[in-house]
Amino acid sequence: KKIHYFEEVTSTNSIAKEIAASEEEGALVIAEVQKGGRGRMGREWVSPHGGIWISVILKPGIPLRHASRLTLVAGLAVANVIRNMGLDSRIKWPNDVRINGKKVCGILTEAKAEVDRVDYVVLGIGINVNMDLKDIPESFRAGSTTLKAELGTHIKRVSFLQDFLFELEQQYILFKTQPFSHILNDWLALSDTIGREVKVTTPSRIIEGKAVGVTPDGALVIRKADDTKEEIIAGRCIYAR
Ligand code: BTN
Repeated sequence: KKIHYFEEVTSTNSIAKEIAASEEEGALVIAEVQKGGRGRMGREWVSPHGGIWISVILKPGIPLRHASRLTLVAGLAVANVIRNMGLDSRIKWPNDVRINGKKVCGILTEAKAEVDRVDYVVLGIGINVNMDLKDIPESFRAGSTTLKAELGTHIKRVSFLQDFLFELEQQYILFKTQPFSHILNDWLALSDTIGREVKVTTPSRIIEGKAVGVTPDGALVIRKADDTKEEIIAGRCIYAR
């Protein structure tokens, strides 16, 4: 599989999308530094030296409405690898991997579809590995951590990346061969969102209530004060307490 390695890029996701049509499934774009790293919902993703900034091109041939499932697949793979290092990582819906309540990884999934079939999915994964927290601007630092800070030691990024890519491939094989409920159950076991009072912000509104589940497409199910339930496919989630 092709690996496109760069010292510096604007965003690995942007490059991956440019080349995706002519690449095989499994091709990777990796950069040491991103100058225009992108987060979800139009936010910036600060990407200095010492992190892992990577985009994986996948061609799963699934309906577009299932593309968000791959965000859960990737989050599960990251959380599993971090747990194998002895850290108690948890997943905050939809895609934040956290340690002790602080974010260590974010995932930005972008898909292109023809009618309802995806042509490709770009899984953009950013992991705060060895950088010093002081390299992250103060406005972004709150609520963030790094693997080095949590483990108290420098991490070998290459072997971490190998372990992660191996785990991602395992999860992707399960995704393609097993009912999605299997992955969803594993994801639910590592998520700390279900059972929590949450406030979810979407571009059009704010929904508050108790997170009671996740649908097979990865939408968060919220039970509101009036006891009705609502499913939210994408949004920014805050734990209310
Ligand atoms: C988020 O939590 O908002 C998602 C952050 C995703 C960051 C990764 S880093 C590699 C890839 N390239 C980007 O520009 N973004 C993703």
